[in-house]
Amino acid sequence: MSITKKFFGKTDNGEEVNIFALTNNNGFSARIIDYGATIVSIFAPDKNGRVDDVVLGYDDLESYAKGPGYIGALIGRYGNRIKAGRFTLNGKEYILAKNDGNNHLHGGIVGFDKAVWKAETITKDGKEALQMSYTSKDGEEGYPGNLDVKVIYTVTDDNALSIEYIAFSDKDTIINLTNHSYFNLGGHKSGSILNNTLKLEADKFTVVDNEAIPTGELRNVEGTPLDFRKPTAIGDRIDQKDEQLLNVGGYDHNFVLNRTGKGLEKAAAVYDPKSERTMEVYTNKPGVQLYTANFLGKDLKGKDGAVYQNREALCLETQFFPDSINHENFPSPILKAGERYDYTTIYKFL
Ligand code: BGC
Repeated sequence: MSITKKFFGKTDNGEEVNIFALTNNNGFSARIIDYGATIVSIFAPDKNGRVDDVVLGYDDLESYAKGPGYIGALIGRYGNRIKAGRFTLNGKEYILAKNDGNNHLHGGIVGFDKAVWKAETITKDGKEALQMSYTSKDGEEGYPGNLDVKVIYTVTDDNALSIEYIAFSDKDTIINLTNHSYFNLGGHKSGSILNNTLKLEADKFTVVDNEAIPTGELRNVEGTPLDFRKPTAIGDRIDQKDEQLLNVGGYDHNFVLNRTGKGLEKAAAVYDPKSERTMEVYTNKPGVQLYTANFLGKDLKGKDGAVYQNREALCLETQFFPDSINHENFPSPILKAGERYDYTTIYKFL
């Protein structure tokens, strides 16, 4: 494993942003910038050794600062939506920005995806790793508590990228950190992902209304187009006249993972028949958001001359459930003062 650092750009405030390349001994490599702790590229070999960049991204900092869709970014403080931007904690109501219609999305107007993180190389379990740190001030974007966050990226020789999310707060707060990479296993320029097959380790999903807000119901996937318990092509049912799909323009749902313990467990596997690449996702979080880039945009200019369209990538955002602070039957996203938040997600390429 090696880590190299290069200049990537300067923010409008003159802050320097660097790009870090984490490379293993098999030609697998992940490139990450300290702006938004964002994954810019993942170069993954296929069965025949052909290497492709399997995530969408941009070449320049300005596109990351202004572009849509949170491409590759670290999302915080709270991934996905909070209904009407309101929640009550310890009897006090907190009001957050409504930056997605009537609701709060992905941490607000200036979320963790827009912060310049402090990057350093550390040793974790005897291996070199890239650590990004950021302190979010008490009251930032309306959330309580000074929150110290560390995100540790490690590349391993089995062609996996591990992301560990650690946080501490000095007041009780809510938190749900995730990564918003858009994967296209055939390569970021290879077009539609609708023929990719997906397997999700989930018997249930959280039902949403037409603002993508959970109603509170956990519904069995059985008999619905959200049944991915057996590998199924993403495009097979995506345009069915199904209320859940119509509500959000395709797949944009949180799946309730069938967890058996507290450790890392397999959450998902995606297979691209063209490149024959597979990506497996392991996590110890309770849910995963499947988002099929339904609204990424038309002719979005990406890195290396790419032009992206909707449904040319998919996101698998491991998470606490959307709006979980407003649903007592969902796993609690509360982080108590002084306690440790520590979750890991691994994206492994085969
Ligand atoms: C959400 C989508 C949203 C996308 C980009 C996903 O995590 O579930 O509804 O459009 O992020 O913001």
